[in-house]
Amino acid sequence: MAIQFISATKIFKLDTNKTSYILQVNGYGYLLHHYYGAYIPDSEMDYLGYTVGHSSFSPGVPCWKNGEPYFSKDVSRMEYSCNGCGDFRGSALSIIRSTGTADTDIRYVSHKIYAGKPQIVGLPATYAAADEATTLEILCIDEASGAEVTLYYTVFEALGAMTRHVSVKNTSDKMMNIQRIFSTCVDFHDARDMDLIHLYGSWAMERKFERIPLMHGTQVISSKRGASSAMHNPFIAVCSHDATEEYGDAYGFNLVYSGNFVASAEMDTDGGARVLMGINPEGFNWKLEAGESFTTPEAVMVYSNEGIGGMSRIYHRLYRNNLCRGEWKNTRRPILINNWEATYFNFDEEKLYDIAKTASELGIEMFVMDDGWFGDRNTDKSGLGDWFVNESKLKGGLGKLVDRVNDLGMKFGIWFEPEMVSKDSNLFRAHPEWALQTPNRPMSIARAQYVLDMSRADVRDYLFDCISQVLDNANIAYIKWDFNRNLTEVGSALLDADRQGEVFHRYVLGLYELLERILNKYPHLIIEGCSSGGGRFDPAWLYYAPQSWTSDDTDAIERLDIQYGTSMCYPVSSMGSHVSACPNHQTNRTTPLTTRGHVAMSGTFGYELDLTKLTDEEKEIVKGQCDEYRKYYDLINKGDLYRLISPWKDRTRCAWSFVSEDKNEVLLTYVVIRGGIYDRHYVRLNGLDENRYYRNVQTGQVLSGKALMNAGICIQERLRDYESRMYHFISVN
Ligand code: DGJ
Repeated sequence: MAIQFISATKIFKLDTNKTSYILQVNGYGYLLHHYYGAYIPDSEMDYLGYTVGHSSFSPGVPCWKNGEPYFSKDVSRMEYSCNGCGDFRGSALSIIRSTGTADTDIRYVSHKIYAGKPQIVGLPATYAAADEATTLEILCIDEASGAEVTLYYTVFEALGAMTRHVSVKNTSDKMMNIQRIFSTCVDFHDARDMDLIHLYGSWAMERKFERIPLMHGTQVISSKRGASSAMHNPFIAVCSHDATEEYGDAYGFNLVYSGNFVASAEMDTDGGARVLMGINPEGFNWKLEAGESFTTPEAVMVYSNEGIGGMSRIYHRLYRNNLCRGEWKNTRRPILINNWEATYFNFDEEKLYDIAKTASELGIEMFVMDDGWFGDRNTDKSGLGDWFVNESKLKGGLGKLVDRVNDLGMKFGIWFEPEMVSKDSNLFRAHPEWALQTPNRPMSIARAQYVLDMSRADVRDYLFDCISQVLDNANIAYIKWDFNRNLTEVGSALLDADRQGEVFHRYVLGLYELLERILNKYPHLIIEGCSSGGGRFDPAWLYYAPQSWTSDDTDAIERLDIQYGTSMCYPVSSMGSHVSACPNHQTNRTTPLTTRGHVAMSGTFGYELDLTKLTDEEKEIVKGQCDEYRKYYDLINKGDLYRLISPWKDRTRCAWSFVSEDKNEVLLTYVVIRGGIYDRHYVRLNGLDENRYYRNVQTGQVLSGKALMNAGICIQERLRDYESRMYHFISVN
């Protein structure tokens, strides 16, 4: 049984094949956290929750009970911390009740345990069949306010992952305001030897890996941009100081949400640490009328004692199998050519057709027409919102171009930036009130555009109709869904003053509703998420879009960092990755076409350059790359990723591999960042079967799994800056 309730001690034990998570209801009805980590058979873990010395600064519970020990939340490990009643660390829940006071105090009422996993209405979340997961719901009540709080836990037994979310119902007859409501809260008993990992960045340098020791006090990672953002990702991990890629404790936390978020780790004076994750309370204030409920997004928690790599591989499997949905979850996605870096805004139908034709000859399977096909859009200064084909650019209309591309044997994809409106657009002239704005304040402008108020049903209906109009009139297989600025002056003309604190979240809910509606109508569609590259790369997108454009930086060497960091929790099958022209448009760096191919193949593969300008020799290389990608598709996209040499270790090289689930095949990629004269190129593999022998398909060499993992392979070549090698190993016994 994956989840047990031991009634004598009121202990809940949530197990997966490799992990245990233990909490208990104490004599006062409070939920205490006892353990999260590697599986332990013993359920009597309440000894971990002993009372430590406290002073007069640690208040005890009101309503003292005879016989119960002194209990102070201040010095206890709490399961879901509340504000204002004696737990002075960061709180997961804070509700302003009708009295105007922000004091919240929840106690256990009842619980349910059942097979499977409930949906979270209106929000993306992992899903599971009845035999894949078990769920625990714990109902608590704050009697003073009438807030009924349900904590949801789902364990994915075979995968070793668990998810949490929370809902609050106002059972009183008065209004209350939710100030903060996080999706998860975990109190670690001892975090003195732990590090924090997070992914920071910016445009064109998303999800850089940073690892720092936990310090006393609070370390906070967050976004209040209205999007999960390129600057910080809704992912953190805490791991032991000695954790490596393959060894040590690593705990991952990832929020399935595309809006404002917070993730924090707070180390207390006693060395314990509280991790919190959820919607960012800044800019959030949710009015809950009598009888209404509010539900948080889901946090996905993964523990591995096989290091940071072990943690990542659990996330990858869970997201590939239990978060991605629909036809393209398992079907091979087409190799694409996107015209953005080939033409920018400067194209007509013949130019696009020429690129598509060359692409089709090289084995590329889908042509994607990027920005500039609609309205009066010849620069980024105008046209967003006017989603009508610009026939002076695409003579004969969109249908004709799509048919011609289809006749080449290729699918057709198209770019949209639905959530935006250009200041210079017919849509903005007709409906200025559709843009987010606040009274008597000028609207900040970015890339000459404003953000539409996605909380409004009329805005969503307009966008749905525009997108439908395009999809109904041409055979379109794919949409690139872009989002190129963040939210400012966040107010909605349709909401009352006391509901303006809901706009950020209502925006995200509106976005999800529109995506769901489109996918319901067009179930065969592939959506690729994008936000000036990877500015909204989060797990929520995986529910709607099996792939997201990882970064506008297409330089193969910069991509090493970006893809390495992104792989902390996101599977390579989700990372849009393209070969582009050299010198690279972002960095001016020149790298070999082969290396660009090797790096882009560790993602959803495509091209983004003017293929008509390639030499015959380059075209042959491209043809070969497409064949290789098709050949290795399953290994790359369904295999286990092992990060072998980190690109930021000494910035000289980088290596990673994919190992098939049955350990029969391995694909190794090795890239030299800076090749020294005396460099030798050894790479130790990982994840192989040490009792088997493997043949290197490229060199013919046969080595044991033990040799490959302990001594490694030796690439006996003088490799120069930016050169790369890819080797395929097949088990011979
Ligand atoms: C930003 C995207 O990341 C690019 O790939 C491209 O689609 C441009 N927007 C178009 O405006």
